[in-house]
Amino acid sequence: MDYVKLGKTGIKISRIGFGTWGISGDWGRKFSKKEILCLFNVAFELGINFFDTAPVYGNGYVEEILGEFSKNHKIIIATKIPGKRKPSLEQSVNIDECYNTSYINTVLSKSLQRLNRKYVDLLMLHNWHPQWNKTACRILQHLNKLKMEGKIRAMGISLPAWMNKGLDDLTHLALLDFVMVPLNLFQQWARYYLLSTAQKKNIAILARSPLDHGSLAGVLHRLESLPNGDIRKRKFQGKTLFETQRRVTEICKKLRIDLKKLPAYALQFCLAQPAVVSVIVGMRSEQVIRDNIKNLKINFTKDQIALGETFEWNRGQ
Ligand SMILES: NC(=O)c1ccc[n+]([C@@H]2O[C@H](COP(=O)([O-])OP(=O)(O)OC[C@H]3O[C@@H](n4cnc5c(N)ncnc54)[C@H](OP(=O)(O)O)[C@@H]3O)[C@@H](O)[C@H]2O)c1
Repeated sequence: MDYVKLGKTGIKISRIGFGTWGISGDWGRKFSKKEILCLFNVAFELGINFFDTAPVYGNGYVEEILGEFSKNHKIIIATKIPGKRKPSLEQSVNIDECYNTSYINTVLSKSLQRLNRKYVDLLMLHNWHPQWNKTACRILQHLNKLKMEGKIRAMGISLPAWMNKGLDDLTHLALLDFVMVPLNLFQQWARYYLLSTAQKKNIAILARSPLDHGSLAGVLHRLESLPNGDIRKRKFQGKTLFETQRRVTEICKKLRIDLKKLPAYALQFCLAQPAVVSVIVGMRSEQVIRDNIKNLKINFTKDQIALGETFEWNRGQ
């Protein structure tokens, strides 16, 4: 496993991060604490030292288990501050309606309790609206103050899938250590709007959902077989699943690779992008963890990776 420095910080994280949303219970299937600890153990033994979670994942369930796991394992944990309201593209919400300093302090102190730690390694705002680029000064300064006080080691924001502009006009952009962003063969807007700025400013990019929730791993066959609550039932409803599968087949054809190799290609496409330090992958079985570690070692040519740029598709969310 390779490890990379997270932007301007001294934190070193594995090229694959363990995404914990899918095991939190929010996707319909409840994973027991024993099952989750077993998955964490396998990942850690294979070199994954970076875990992404949030207070809203299972209502703190995963944070608690990570707290227990980190007693005996040296791991880097990223967690988030959910907005009090969730802004959307159509409905811009004033940042003050989502975040204020005392709310952030309260949510952070609850996370620290669950994680059983004195500080959080990476803390990010879970919600963002492009209109906040000019109005988030106070909130970003507050995160920086928490960093100075030693309550967090790195600060960042998580951008929504519907983001339609970059962060060039973000006041206090230089304060950010990292940005989490949806990035995969279909969703590539970050390549135009964000990655070169991030590279220039030494802001680390964490690519989330690099397998498009599993479609790029060829695991989405029939939505009926997914349990109620699995977010993919909504994201791929109607004709969307069919069109996604059609495109997945086409990608394999153009690359002249077998579908089995596509997850490896999809992860490596993300990791090859400027400023991307780690891919945050949802992994819900031991086999998937093992496969993804191996996936980093499969070789693709520069030309094959470059071809990935032509697979962009705005499916809508
Ligand atoms: N706003 C935010 O900040 C935000 C939003 C979304 C996600 N995230 C983070 O990003 C993480 C990842 O997102 P995600 O789970 O939606 O998407 P993902 O990583 O693109 O897809 C994960 C799914 O792909 C399948 N998969 C993964 N590796 C595979 C392999 N080698 N072979 C076959 N199938 C494989 C698994 O499906 P099955 O389990 O069905 O087998 C897995 O659940 C989340 O857990 C969370 O930590 C953050």
